[in-house]
Amino acid sequence: MGMMTEPLILLGLESSCDDTAAALLRIDPDGVPAILSSVVHGQTALHADFGGVVPEIAARAHAEKLDICVREALAQAHLTLRDVQAVAVTSGPGLIGGVIAGVMCAKGIAAGAGIPLIGVNHLAGHALTPRLTHGVTYPYLMLLVSGGHCQFLIVRGADDFTRLGGTIDDAPGEAFDKTARLLGLPQPGGPHVEREATQGDPTRFRFPRPLLDRPGCDMSFSGLKTALLRARDEVVAEKSGLTRQDRADLCAGFQAAVRDVLAEKTRRALTIYLADSPEHPVIAVAGGVAANTAIRARLETGAAELGVTFVAPPLALCTDNAAMIAYAGAELYALGRRHDMTLAARPRWPLDHTSPAMLGSGKKGAKA
Ligand code: KG4
Ligand code: ZN
Repeated sequence: MGMMTEPLILLGLESSCDDTAAALLRIDPDGVPAILSSVVHGQTALHADFGGVVPEIAARAHAEKLDICVREALAQAHLTLRDVQAVAVTSGPGLIGGVIAGVMCAKGIAAGAGIPLIGVNHLAGHALTPRLTHGVTYPYLMLLVSGGHCQFLIVRGADDFTRLGGTIDDAPGEAFDKTARLLGLPQPGGPHVEREATQGDPTRFRFPRPLLDRPGCDMSFSGLKTALLRARDEVVAEKSGLTRQDRADLCAGFQAAVRDVLAEKTRRALTIYLADSPEHPVIAVAGGVAANTAIRARLETGAAELGVTFVAPPLALCTDNAAMIAYAGAELYALGRRHDMTLAARPRWPLDHTSPAMLGSGKKGAKA
């Protein structure tokens, strides 16, 4: 980041999915960031009865919670709005009602405090997090794997991303959540499926490894849940029920399939990246699925085999938060980015200006 003479304090806001978040971030004159506070109010309980995020419920909850988050973030940082020099807000992609709530809140603060407004792409927030947490220098390869996102990006700058591929249907977290639902495990399903999997035999059910037979870095996870459903129903038909061991074996088989697909596609993405930038062999991950020990371990081993450094931000900064939005805002601010009251909320907003937007929309909104 460019040199400054004074520290810069930014407020970040995030409301594009099912977490309402506010954070305060200081950038010191030497460019080093410090998170002063990071508040996240999740909505899991609000959506629990519906088997997915309900956009209208999410939007209303964001509108109600944003002010509270901002006040908490300021209090935890021992600051007032007068100390804040810029406000950065997720202006897409995501569920449009929530994004609008965040953008309106940020506009109010920017106008009221007379400070600059910076609209930030949510995916850029995730993709720049390794710089916030580990000071990783450009370029690097990024794998985003969450309930809403799954893509490989070469990150060359705060506004310079090349998308190498991603899911063509469900995100892996979504597949974990659906698997949990099919097996009667609680939501969000990832951690429960992982726990079951540790007790299971991953070889008993041989699930497909979708798209591994095709070149490139695109992935598909929606077929896996169909395969899981069929396997579950076969066991149920045979024994008129599932034992604990059946469930553990199904989880282990499913997780192994996701792990293998991510590992092989990551190897390919790394090969493409290294041909381009052999001087900086670094891969970073973000997103809730990166919390999965089995998946993370495999990705780490795969990177090591290619002589590549593996970076994983702490979980609280891997999942949705506003510190990453404030940080991405700070980098864009240093590049001269400013928005005015015409800043629009964008439900779809691909990071890579050169690649076409993905068709289709997941349970957590547009795939960008
Ligand atoms: O990044 P995140 O908090 O939110 C977004 O989707 O943006 O990711 C949440 C997703 C959920 O689908 C959850 O089931 C999954 O990450 N997840 C996991 C694990 N922990 C969370 N998936 C697999 N294994 C885990 N340990
Ligand atoms: Zn996210």
